[in-house]
Amino acid sequence: MDTPHLAKLLMKHGSAPERYASATLDSLRPEQDPGGVVTGWPATDVPVLVLVGRTHVGKTYAGCALINGYAPADPESDWGARYFRCLDLVNPDGSVRDAGDLSTARTAGLLFLDGLGTLLLDAGLRSPITPDLPSPVLYELIDARLGERKPTVVATNLAVGDAVPYPGVPTFEQVYGKIADRLLYRATVAHLIGPEVLAE
Ligand SMILES: Nc1ncnc2c1ncn2[C@@H]1O[C@H](COP(=O)(O)OP(=O)(O)OP(=O)(O)O)[C@@H](O)[C@H]1O
Ligand SMILES: [Mg+2]
Repeated sequence: MDTPHLAKLLMKHGSAPERYASATLDSLRPEQDPGGVVTGWPATDVPVLVLVGRTHVGKTYAGCALINGYAPADPESDWGARYFRCLDLVNPDGSVRDAGDLSTARTAGLLFLDGLGTLLLDAGLRSPITPDLPSPVLYELIDARLGERKPTVVATNLAVGDAVPYPGVPTFEQVYGKIADRLLYRATVAHLIGPEVLAE
């Protein structure tokens, strides 16, 4: 057994939450796939997809549908699809929780970073703008992945470009400053504007 295969078997972190295990691209509602950008992704050579929308519009479900349907071109040298909640990557003080998780996130064939900016909304936007996943950590992660042209999906309730999930919500640029350029340059932005999807 070669090393990448063994490492894959030993990898425990980064799997999608159980309740999204059955998410498939076929079962996305039209509002979860505006203009077909989720089912059609990746369509560009800069593989970043940003899922923007209010709580419970189905961002995590849509991202997990991509994770669940991920089929690497070369399974022997690909590290597979990985899921991380941004809050699980860091401690409350912003320090990195587990270097192994971060390394898994960096090397995954497809990465889904879920809930970027969640903390800001949970705080009712009253606190000063402090990202839940600190800018340097996010920058390093995204930069490494872009450098290797590895696809990344990000889900956020922050405003991204014209996609504004809540009036007055901070923009991605306000929160993340310069890293916004790195992440959003030619990224595909999907604004999910459906009704709240209730668990079935
Ligand atoms: N197409 C779908 N078919 C069946 N169930 C769905 C679908 N889309 C979403 N759901 C369910 O609706 C609920 C809300 O979706 P989800 O958790 O993806 O929302 P979200 O936008 O990520 O919310 P939050 O901002 O709170 O993270 C979940 O229980 C999810 O499993
Ligand atoms: Mg979610």
